[in-house]
Amino acid sequence: MNTTSFIPKDLKFLLKDTTVTWKTPSNIALVKYWGKTNPQLPKNTSISFTLSNCHTTTKIIFSKIKKVQQADFELFFEGKKKDDFKPKIATFFERIATYCPYVLEYKMEIHSENSFPHSSGIASSASGMSAIAMCLMSLEKELNPAISEEFFNQKASFLARLGSGSASRSIEGPLVIWGDHPDFDESSDLYGIKFPHYVHSIFDNYQDTILLVDKGEKQVSSTVGHNLMHDHPYAENRFKQANENLSKLSKILQTGNIKEFIKLVESEALTLHAMMLTSDPYFILMKPNTLNIINEIWSYREKTGSNVCFTLDAGANVHMLYPENEKEQIHSFIESKLAQYCQKGQFIHDFAGLGALSI
Ligand code: PMV
Repeated sequence: MNTTSFIPKDLKFLLKDTTVTWKTPSNIALVKYWGKTNPQLPKNTSISFTLSNCHTTTKIIFSKIKKVQQADFELFFEGKKKDDFKPKIATFFERIATYCPYVLEYKMEIHSENSFPHSSGIASSASGMSAIAMCLMSLEKELNPAISEEFFNQKASFLARLGSGSASRSIEGPLVIWGDHPDFDESSDLYGIKFPHYVHSIFDNYQDTILLVDKGEKQVSSTVGHNLMHDHPYAENRFKQANENLSKLSKILQTGNIKEFIKLVESEALTLHAMMLTSDPYFILMKPNTLNIINEIWSYREKTGSNVCFTLDAGANVHMLYPENEKEQIHSFIESKLAQYCQKGQFIHDFAGLGALSI
């Protein structure tokens, strides 16, 4: 599949006004994407669990207008007009205009809200961008009812990717691969695909509790972080390692080798942050409590034989991953030992889910 197949032909703009709403989740990468080229193409393949409770709900009211040169839209976040988010969305509409010419023929009123607390340090770009992408695809489907569900999801992932790379993995679930990889024939740098193999039942409803360590604005944005991979001394080895890790993880997911899962996932998280520590300029996104939590998880695992592990995204928060059958014990471990390291004692229980929902 190349990009031209996403350019619609013969759309008839007969539809006047329509309103669509989608709820799309965030995701947590197991093998991390860090490093990209234009336009938002990954330097290595990544895989993530799609989440459930952490999601964005977006409604777009489309009203037919005469064709304009630049997308005409208003943005409301949690009920309030949000002009400071507009430049990012305007750039997104510019990027996708070739693939979605209809964005220039409708006025769009975008209403968005997140299920997770505002500035919780949880990246909202994956759920936010995928929600807008799904809404656009709903309009496209109304303009061209012949498009298949497969094409709908693939193009939604393609569009979401142009907004935020990791958003390409927030359309489907529970496991999504993004980036071309020799082991997966259907994989592509352009969009995410569902992990195509059988997955061992130990990973069913896999749990993710997000410990909110630091809710402040990140000192270094992920855009800047990705760019620092360009002249990074370890970049090429890192990209190679990530692709090898995906091959290994694919086997682990199929066989249910949870001890190997723990090793690989934690190593991926620490390697991501090692790339940040060794960038020029270097930076640190972990906080003292990130490390306190990691040490607590390691000693809990040592003491109890639990299969809990941690991962990190580009921030200080810790994602605790564990099988559903350990839910009770892990919840009490969090309450008794880990909540003290979280800002205002806050954490969010989540689990792997199936992706976007039309509502
Ligand atoms: O989608 P972006 O550009 O915000 O990058 C996200 C990168 C990580 O969250 C650190 C890793 C990943 O694969 O999600």
